[in-house]
Amino acid sequence: MSFVTYEAKDLIGIVTINREKALNALNTQVLNDLEEVIDGVDYDTIRCLIITGAGKKSFVAGADIGEMAEDTKAEGKEFCEHGNRVFRKIETLPIPVIAAINGFALGGGCELSMACDIRIASDNAVFGQPEVGLGITPGFGGTQRLMRRIPVGKAKEMIYASINIKAEEALKWGLINAIYPQDELLPAAEKLANRIAAQAPIAVRAAKAAMNEGIDVPMDEAIQVEVKHFSDCFETADQKEGMKAFMEKRKHEPFQN
Ligand code: HXC
Repeated sequence: MSFVTYEAKDLIGIVTINREKALNALNTQVLNDLEEVIDGVDYDTIRCLIITGAGKKSFVAGADIGEMAEDTKAEGKEFCEHGNRVFRKIETLPIPVIAAINGFALGGGCELSMACDIRIASDNAVFGQPEVGLGITPGFGGTQRLMRRIPVGKAKEMIYASINIKAEEALKWGLINAIYPQDELLPAAEKLANRIAAQAPIAVRAAKAAMNEGIDVPMDEAIQVEVKHFSDCFETADQKEGMKAFMEKRKHEPFQN
């Protein structure tokens, strides 16, 4: 049995972490299942992914504390590297990924959401990196991504003092883009995913690659990243058709993959 389910809906895919009785906590099997599902997506067809958690209470309540409790240093390192490898894979997927955060996003759950391109949340969502209260640091990218998503001082406050924040505050700091009532979260995620899927797909992929490749490099290098991805678009049929349609004041033909 897999702890991660996948549903393809036309041009978008929905990945659900499904270990509800442990609030979708990530143990080794969940990480393996997540990677298997991510690897199995048909990226020739699917143009946007949504990642969410099963149930109405939790997105992911963290890495599995029970599994880590007796770990040696070497085992802790292995688990840390495992989660980081899977999350980095998600972050660098060719297509955009939306985290639909339906409740607790703590520790590894907050970290999973931060590996996604876009985060939207339900009104009961709670975010935090409470690891120092367990005697560890965040270990699935939290020490690095939180301060890249929100102001460094706020990230340090949350991590050093183990402070969880509710959806409203996460919105204020820009950690999430929007808040929805629980029942409206997934429909909103699907609406956004479908809007992304309706754009020129090669251009969307190029825009994601350009932003990902450019974010941590000096500006002169970052601009060269953009120059490359921008100019590559001129070899696509979508660019020819998209611009021709605009000039002819008509709707463009369906974009190609
Ligand atoms: C294992 C977990 C879990 C976790 C919840 N559960 N979070 N099991 N690992 N991270 C389990 C509980 O043990 C319980 O199992 C069931 O889920 C329901 O949880 P409750 O605590 O009874 O629910 P509630 O009282 O509503 O509290 C919800 C909660 C709390 C506030 C989210 O569960 C909580 O604080 N969880 C831990 C959050 C956390 O510290 N996350 C960071 C983990 S470290 P039973 O069997 O009793 O019903 C981390 C490191 C990442 O993520 C990097 C690693 C390298």
